[in-house]
Amino acid sequence: MIPVKSLAVPTSEQKRLGAFYTPENLSTVLTDWAVRKPTDKVLEPSFGRCGFLAAARKRLEFLGCADPKRQIFGSDVDQAAFSFLVDVLGPYVDTDNFLQEDFLDLTPDTNWGQFFEATVGNPPYIPYQAIPSKRRVELADRAAAVGAPVGGRASLWAHFVVHAVSFVASGGRMAWVLPGSFLQADYAVGVRNYLAQSFASVLCVLMHQRFFKEEGTEEETVILLARDKKDDDSTTTIRFIDASSVDELKTIVDNWDSGASVGRPLDARPSFFVIEQCVATIFNQICERSDCRSLGDYLTTNIGLVTGANTFFVLSERDRENHGLGEADTQPVLGKFKAAKGASFSMADHASFMEIGGKGHLISTKELPPIGSALRKYLDSFPAEQRENISTFKKRLIWHAPADAKVPDAFLSVMNHDGPRLVLNEARIHCTNTIHRAFFSEGVDNVTRKLLVISLLTSFSQLSAEFVGRRYGSGVLKHEPREAERISILMPKKIDPAAIEKTFTEIDGLLRSGNIVQARAKADRLIIHKIKGGKGISAAFELALHLVRELRRTTRYASGA
Ligand SMILES: C[S@@+](CC[C@H](N)C(=O)[O-])C[C@H]1O[C@@H](n2cnc3c(N)ncnc32)[C@H](O)[C@@H]1O
Repeated sequence: MIPVKSLAVPTSEQKRLGAFYTPENLSTVLTDWAVRKPTDKVLEPSFGRCGFLAAARKRLEFLGCADPKRQIFGSDVDQAAFSFLVDVLGPYVDTDNFLQEDFLDLTPDTNWGQFFEATVGNPPYIPYQAIPSKRRVELADRAAAVGAPVGGRASLWAHFVVHAVSFVASGGRMAWVLPGSFLQADYAVGVRNYLAQSFASVLCVLMHQRFFKEEGTEEETVILLARDKKDDDSTTTIRFIDASSVDELKTIVDNWDSGASVGRPLDARPSFFVIEQCVATIFNQICERSDCRSLGDYLTTNIGLVTGANTFFVLSERDRENHGLGEADTQPVLGKFKAAKGASFSMADHASFMEIGGKGHLISTKELPPIGSALRKYLDSFPAEQRENISTFKKRLIWHAPADAKVPDAFLSVMNHDGPRLVLNEARIHCTNTIHRAFFSEGVDNVTRKLLVISLLTSFSQLSAEFVGRRYGSGVLKHEPREAERISILMPKKIDPAAIEKTFTEIDGLLRSGNIVQARAKADRLIIHKIKGGKGISAAFELALHLVRELRRTTRYASGA
């Protein structure tokens, strides 16, 4: 076995370089698939600790290649990567094959004078914020020019994959270890479409195993395999499957390679693929019903107030006292969604949250208070230098007036361990930007508002929310405002308003006592059970929801085998 040195805790330098190293068993499966002939030339664009190079050497040797290192090429910006080459490839490595360069500045013909039958690797996962802005624009323009409009917010891995396509020889293969954002991020759509145009077939495999936990990241892993690089204009459909271990991945890859149809077309977010085909069919049938709408048909959502400095602007009762501020100096605000436990939020709820030390007094004043007043002293205590630099402050006319005139009709959760909830804003107060503000469209009466709150809790809508939202590495489900508006809801017309009122009150009670499962069951009884076969559908959706959420949350993922 060729030793590949393992890393201790990552240094800040390794983080800067997006340096996580692929386990040997994984790089072996990918390389064995990508390299087919003893004459194949192999490229690893960011070879790091040389794990893929080691796998390429073994594979070429296995295929009968007498001197594999002549056919192995790579680049990396990290000088340290080069010290592993001799260990892995043996002495007399041809240094022309390995360049200490930014891969994104290389071209196949000028730098190596050839194309590659196999390109393998695990690119740097560097978020767009860490890429200098000039470079970001340059990379986005370049990607758009080749037909992959990833935009300015693409992580570096996306540029790597797009750029690497031009290094693959006609008929060649690419195999990558990618982050979950390949399936989740908006910018990844441009990458996926480009791959679908560049290769005759593409498979991606969502791994249920966290490979980079030791490096301090809960990042999901997606394996991308693209075969038969082509030059015509046809487009293939990327297929999707999930695997719980590297062994299962190997079986999938072997089946796919022997011509079997593997997985399903990738035409929705991955959580959709986890549920049984028959449940997916019922779900789609309900979506087709005339009384199935989207949340956005009844309301618009915006992010809550952006203060620019929540610790300064949002205070607890004690903070207020400590600064000698009076009731008139602040206004109530919902600063944490957990304070809104029920189906509606009243001033009594606000008071209860404040009593337990919650933060819910907002500083927001258009007038500069008189010199010497407690509020003026408080405002003056904000460091002048920071005031100049906080971009949110620059965007508003008066830095100390974060509240606007748009008091929301309801609150919608943004980050969810379970699923999203809509809470009617009986208190008529603002919320901060950890919560979405919901504004009902004209004509949406009180009964409909309550029905919306109930309907969003059904197993059907909660599943829909899983499909349109994004999974974060930590397993939380997030909805941007436009995504929240796409959540499907069933709004049957023939429900007695008295039944809606009664269910709303019961659900409010259940939610307040933390009984979300029973609240959902009640919502299903009012709405889903009205559909033909509704009881069974509700039970099937409940199971599917359980599965989707288990997969979303990190605890389910094994870290070992
Ligand atoms: C996620 S690690 C993967 C290393 C190796 N491919 C593996 O799978 O073990 C990413 C590697 O990209 C390298 N890297 C970062 N930016 C790069 C760039 N612009 N060009 C080439 N390599 C880069 C880092 O030094 C690091 O070795």
